[in-house]
Amino acid sequence: MNFDGKVAVVVGAGSGIGRATASLFAEYGARVALADIDKNGLVETAEMLAGRGAEVSQHVCDLTDQEQTEALIEDARRSHGRIDSVVTTVGWSDTTFFATEEAEYWRRIIDINLMTSIFLCRAALRVLSPQKSGSIVLTSSDAGKVGTMGETVYAAAKAGVIGFVKSLARETARDGVRVNAISPGPTDTPLLRAQSDQDVIEKMIRAVPLKRMGTAEEQAAPIVFLASDGASYITGQTLSVSGGLTMTS
Ligand SMILES: NC(=O)c1ccc[n+]([C@@H]2O[C@H](COP(=O)([O-])OP(=O)(O)OC[C@H]3O[C@@H](n4cnc5c(N)ncnc54)[C@H](O)[C@@H]3O)[C@@H](O)[C@H]2O)c1
Repeated sequence: MNFDGKVAVVVGAGSGIGRATASLFAEYGARVALADIDKNGLVETAEMLAGRGAEVSQHVCDLTDQEQTEALIEDARRSHGRIDSVVTTVGWSDTTFFATEEAEYWRRIIDINLMTSIFLCRAALRVLSPQKSGSIVLTSSDAGKVGTMGETVYAAAKAGVIGFVKSLARETARDGVRVNAISPGPTDTPLLRAQSDQDVIEKMIRAVPLKRMGTAEEQAAPIVFLASDGASYITGQTLSVSGGLTMTS
């Protein structure tokens, strides 16, 4: 994979899978526009990559806000002169039973896990469609494929990402823009550690055929592959990266 001369926008770059993805893009030669709502995480990632000689820009952005998302893409294009790949790993959930939550929580979960992808794609396509090339990679979850107790509305939002990817990929194919997603299983990141105690983590590991959690780097590799020219005949797909947890089509 070679991203020399190319520019990737990575939202969620302040932590976990997004940070590992930004790092891998940079390793393959891309200039990277790093974005996150969390300024501290963003600065840490930027310093880490700049220390390795990568060319990066930093953009604080709340991806649940359409105006901020439009501004992010415009700033990234202005900073680097072009955009080739756009990735979001933004997502969040708590583990809580459906009947114990109310509309405010459900809306927040849908905003963070689905609306962010919708806003980002709308903004990205203003650049990618006219240039007739580009690749978008979103982040679903195996919860959206098979469901998870305690993550009902999160699973609905992540299933929404899968349907969105399939439909958008059909619309953007004529412009040479590919749209795909990854669907992580249990992955050792700050999000998972905040959400689950050791007992729950061990239970999850027992359910995974490969009998371990994934790493952020193991999610980053397929994201960057899907963004690359190596995946030039792949669009509309959501790839499970979950140690075999789900084997649905
Ligand atoms: N870790 C897992 O086990 C797991 C499993 C399945 C799916 N996922 C999905 O993978 C993705 C990445 O998860 P992670 O484990 O790396 O999480 P993480 O919490 O480590 O990273 C998520 C990043 O997104 C940022 N973010 C959150 N809301 C934002 C917003 N509104 N605007 C901009 N940035 C925002 C956070 O600040 C954080 O830096 C998420 O979409 C998550 O749902 C993770």
